Amino acid sequence: MNKKQATQRVEELRKAIRRHDFLYYVRDSPEISDEAYDQLFRELTRLEEEYPGLLTEDSPTQRVAGEPLSTFETVEHAAPMLSLDSDADPEALRRFDDRLHRAAAEGAVVEYVAEPKLDGASVELVYEAGRLTRATTRGDGGRGEGILANVRTIAAVPLRLRADEVPVPPFLSVRGEVILQIEAFERLNERLMEAGREPFANPRNAAAGALRQLDPRITSSRPLDIFVYDILAIEGLELETQWEVLETFRQWGLRVNDLPRVIASVDGLLEYHADLLERRDDIGYEIDGVVIKLNDLGMRQSLGTTARHPRWAFAFKFPPRREVTRVLKILASVGRTGVVTPVAMMRPVELGGVTVSRATLHNREEVMRKDIREGDRVRVQRAGDVIPQVVERIEEPGRKRSPRFEMPDECPSCGTPLVERGPFTVCPNSFECPAQLAARLLHLGSRNALDVEGLGEETARLLVDKGLVRQLPDLFDLKAVQLQELEGFAEKSATNLVEGIRRASHTELARFLAGLGIPEVGVAVARQLARHYRTIDALRVADEEALQEVDGVGPRMAEQIVGFFLEPHNAHVLDRLLDDRVVLIEAPEEEISTDLEGLRFVLTGGLERLSREAAKELLESLGAKVTSTVSSKTDYVVAGSDPGSKLEKARQLSVQILDEAGFLELLGERGVTP
Ligand code: IVH
Repeated sequence: MNKKQATQRVEELRKAIRRHDFLYYVRDSPEISDEAYDQLFRELTRLEEEYPGLLTEDSPTQRVAGEPLSTFETVEHAAPMLSLDSDADPEALRRFDDRLHRAAAEGAVVEYVAEPKLDGASVELVYEAGRLTRATTRGDGGRGEGILANVRTIAAVPLRLRADEVPVPPFLSVRGEVILQIEAFERLNERLMEAGREPFANPRNAAAGALRQLDPRITSSRPLDIFVYDILAIEGLELETQWEVLETFRQWGLRVNDLPRVIASVDGLLEYHADLLERRDDIGYEIDGVVIKLNDLGMRQSLGTTARHPRWAFAFKFPPRREVTRVLKILASVGRTGVVTPVAMMRPVELGGVTVSRATLHNREEVMRKDIREGDRVRVQRAGDVIPQVVERIEEPGRKRSPRFEMPDECPSCGTPLVERGPFTVCPNSFECPAQLAARLLHLGSRNALDVEGLGEETARLLVDKGLVRQLPDLFDLKAVQLQELEGFAEKSATNLVEGIRRASHTELARFLAGLGIPEVGVAVARQLARHYRTIDALRVADEEALQEVDGVGPRMAEQIVGFFLEPHNAHVLDRLLDDRVVLIEAPEEEISTDLEGLRFVLTGGLERLSREAAKELLESLGAKVTSTVSSKTDYVVAGSDPGSKLEKARQLSVQILDEAGFLELLGERGVTP
């Protein structure tokens, strides 16, 4: 290859890579596999090494470039980065809407764009002649810190705007929010903790922290993401509405959120707010409300701003998920496997619409590190659908504090001396400890296991404490008259529980296995075991070697399973359960549902017969919900070609996975016609 050919090839490769970056990060619909992409990237890197004269700053290979900085430069924004007037009260929204109607010209339509309020770090990006030349933190709103080298490492930020649909203006300054998706945030924290470092309290702090690294290589190791939502300044192009702004951003290859909608009435806005609040845990990144913006940019101009806020926008917040409260007591709580966890009992607070009075403190080291004591003022939070946690202690100078929390020496439930196993404190009295038994009972009755209606935490504890359940099988011998004697039970609730237990006792092998509490065996493995062995008798006699033939079972797990069934107490419990108390039924053929109402889907990878967008619309038109993160609430993951980490997550959570054929079959005649 001569220099001329190399020049041409380098250009081709850059163009192709930019296009695939755009498809992958902005459109969320990649056309080629990761391997094919890596190959293009490697070829480009090789050519640039061979011909250093061809290297340019906006080459896709140059995202992480330059030496670590010693300090950030201060940069003035193209226009002030204001903040938003905000409130969680619907009345404040009504007042905002009234104000705008009064300000509007007689007969003018007042129309809004409602968008999620992204909980990340606000940044300004400047493109000159289509090239990214500046990136700045919000700072004090007038000026911020120049973080171009760091922002360049964010794969979803184009280094060059696309000019094939709309010409690129000579100067463009946009505002967006840099975020960390929850999955990435959790992985980052795991990595930090493994390295003995302190985890971030939330994705926003993690994103802001990553942007303020002096060494761009560190930023580049944190998978940041961005959504762009506003123009700060533009030259050479007039746009008329916010909706058009978002559309144009998309055409330039900037990443735009897909949840914004045009809405004209307060009722519509309230509905949008309620809908996003309900989906909050499913969208994969943190949002803390809805931003409502006047759609008409001309009218915006004439409304202007106050000192701090634009008059044309309003942040309609969600109830907060982080609150300050006081620790009343710290208890040691014994779990199903005997692990003792310190739990903070707190003055109840509302976190994102749920009243919370307990939060986990993880383990004794965490309590020490955060130095949380009874009586302390603390910040608590609930992220996604995880257990509430104590984030930090709030200093109260001059206040006398209680002594440090100490893990007890003996099990608070059964008095057995506790033992230390690594970072865990464990009650070794596995079979007779009432707390462990109650937790096992709860586990057996949980949603993914027997799914016993009416068997909650308190009832499980009561049944054990009152001696009605001494071993798991006793649950199935309960009579309504016995339950009626218990505190909080009446005739009706007693019969209901007995009925719930009876219904749950006819169950499938997979559910039964998932509920037994075999060490390391979760729902996914339980399903694999059930599929492989079909009967409990076959499984009970399987040896370690045979077990490892089952998908997802490794040597360690095989050893645990064999050990579990050989243990005499377990064997006895299992015999009693199977002695007419639990009836194992054949799993029904996986039926093809005709009604998708309320089912939750996640789409990943490319589909052949229809685009992901079309699939999404189709599903939504059939009453299903399409979300972007896989959680335990997901009903189906549709995996096309080159699926991403969502498929892995689906496997972990044993969410049902459909390939394209399976998906079309599920849709049946409602799907695409050839
Ligand atoms: S518009 C002045 N839209 O919320 C209007 N802001 O104080 C420009 N935010 O720090 C902001 N999501 O960074 C707008 N869809 C969205 C947003 C959003 C999050 C942030 C913004 C600011 C804060 C409001």
